[in-house]
Formats: sequence, structure tokens, C-alpha cells
Amino acid sequence: MKKIAVVYWSGGGNTEAMAKAAVDGAKNAGGEVELFRVDGFSAQDMKDYDGFLFGCPAMGAEVLEEAEFEPFFQEAESKLSGVPVALFGSYGWGGGEWLRQWEARVKGDGAQLIGSLAIENAPDEKGLADCAALGTSLVKALT
Ligand SMILES: Cc1cc2nc3c(=O)[nH]c(=O)nc-3n(C[C@H](O)[C@H](O)[C@H](O)COP(=O)(O)O)c2cc1C
Repeated sequence: MKKIAVVYWSGGGNTEAMAKAAVDGAKNAGGEVELFRVDGFSAQDMKDYDGFLFGCPAMGAEVLEEAEFEPFFQEAESKLSGVPVALFGSYGWGGGEWLRQWEARVKGDGAQLIGSLAIENAPDEKGLADCAALGTSLVKALT
């Protein structure tokens, strides 16, 4: 079975809630899924997985979190060519600009962008369902 890693950073728990819902959606679709905080995962671990859901909120000024997630992601980028990827995260006020920039970045890396999801602040019930659907989409793209 194809394996998926969900790798995220979350300071306040909003993106973490999204990550957990995405895991549930991927599992319900029959995927083999593992959840990692970014400090428990490295680019070297990527070889063990066939697809990725990456989660990080908008931080700084429309950038990825700079202390842990951005350094990880810079290393990950060299391993994304042809790889199915979905992006998600929570934001506060920027209207999702950080995610649009992130999408362009992974496309430039040659990743197969399956989907992306930005949610303002905490995900509500519909938001969690959308996260689950994103997880399902990645499983379907791998099968
Ligand atoms: C230091 C800091 C910088 C932020 N910068 C942005 C930003 O540039 N754009 C934006 O839309 N939200 C920004 N936010 C809001 C967060 O993206 C928002 O609170 C989000 O829900 C945090 O997700 P988390 O609970 O997973 O950490 C920022 C928050 C913090 C604490």
C-alpha cells in the first residue's frame, strides 16, 4: 500500500486540528498515513513515503514558519519532483496569500500538487470536512 506522511507545524493548534482531520480523511479512504510534527520528521525520512500533506500556517509576513518549518521545507524541495503533494494551513488576516506563494513554490519544484486548503483561524465543522476531503484526494491520487 502507498504511504502518506502528514507533516505540519502549528503554534496555536489550528493547523494541527487541520492535520488531524486530514489524517482521518486519508485513513477513511483506505490510505496508510502517519502524522508528524515537523520537528519529528526530516527530509531524509521522505524516501519512505509516496505522497505528502504539508501543513503550516501563515507566519511572519505571508511566509512559512521560519524556525522549524521553512528549514525543513527547503531541504524537502529537492525531493518533490513528480511527487503527489497537498498543502494546508490556517491564516489570520492575509486572505491566503502565503498559501498561493507556497503553491507556486511546490509547482516550481516539480511536485504534483493535488490540492490545497487555507482556513481562516480555527477550522469549523465544514473546515474539518474540507481537510478530510483533502486527505482523501491525496489517497485517490496515489491509487
Ligand atoms: C508571528 C505571527 C505571524 C503571523 N503572520 C500572519 C500573516 O502574515 N498572514 C496571516 O494571514 N496570518 C498571520 N498570522 C496569523 C496565523 O496564521 C493564525 O493565527 C493561524 O491560525 C495560526 O495557526 P496555528 O494555530 O496552527 O499556529 C500570524 C500569526 C503569528 C503568531
